[in-house]
Amino acid sequence: MTHTSSTDQIPASPGIPRHVAIIMDGNGRWASARHMPRVAGHSKGVDAVRATVQACVDQGVEFLTLFAFSSENWRRPADEVSLLMRLFIMVLEREVTQMRANGIRLRVVGDTSAFEPALRKLIDESQARTASNHKMTLTICANYGGRWDVLQATRAMLDARPDLAEAGAPITEADLAPYLAMSFAPEPDLFIRTGGEQRISNFLLWQLAYTELYFTDAFWPDFGAVELDKAFDSYRVRERRFGRTSAQVAVPIITPEH
Ligand code: IPE
Ligand code: IPE
Ligand code: MG
Repeated sequence: MTHTSSTDQIPASPGIPRHVAIIMDGNGRWASARHMPRVAGHSKGVDAVRATVQACVDQGVEFLTLFAFSSENWRRPADEVSLLMRLFIMVLEREVTQMRANGIRLRVVGDTSAFEPALRKLIDESQARTASNHKMTLTICANYGGRWDVLQATRAMLDARPDLAEAGAPITEADLAPYLAMSFAPEPDLFIRTGGEQRISNFLLWQLAYTELYFTDAFWPDFGAVELDKAFDSYRVRERRFGRTSAQVAVPIITPEH
């Protein structure tokens, strides 16, 4: 059997997931429950981002990936979209200095070509300013969609490897993987979605193939160290089998990767 799948090996999993990916959902409902406009929930959500980033650093998480704006979120009312963009700009302007001081590397993934030039410039600068940091990589998925990712990776792969476009070419998972937007990180160990919905909403479709899923009713503005601990408690007792039997994984064939 050829070993060309990232799911062949069970990642070494100490109690703490190496890579946590979160759908930050429920900002609007948090605000509505308080008779506040939805945008107030988004503003409060920024505080939860700050708290969660710190909690992940404290716990020794290496990669934290946050879904901030999906390729489908353009369908929202124009004023909400524009507020979300302004909030994104504000966060980058205000928080990057602190991230830099705290050893956090910031990355933004998604189709940023749709953003206004000022935001694109700010994204480039923020990534450059934190590029030499190693404590934790914080990835913000903005105008990201899992289907967009697979398509852009396929196009990039075929541009680089025209031989793979030929009929019958033996394309493997390992051929495509380097072109995916998050190829710099191991695949997520733990996925968290706040806000009570139990769906993926076009987040990291390829990368979540064997990720442990955790859903909580807590709205995103209420998320932080305490809620993160609950998710980690749930993760700790999971048995990751990657297709094998329980007896097989009891004798670990762990090979650290990345
Ligand atoms: C998540 O909260 C934030 C974004 C999608 C940008 P929502 O705005 O989706 O909040 P709900 O789901 O309507 O409560
Ligand atoms: C998912 O939340 C996207 C982000 C959190 C950025 P949504 O609130 O947009 O998801 P759906 O549309 O309800 O599934
Ligand atoms: Mg929502």
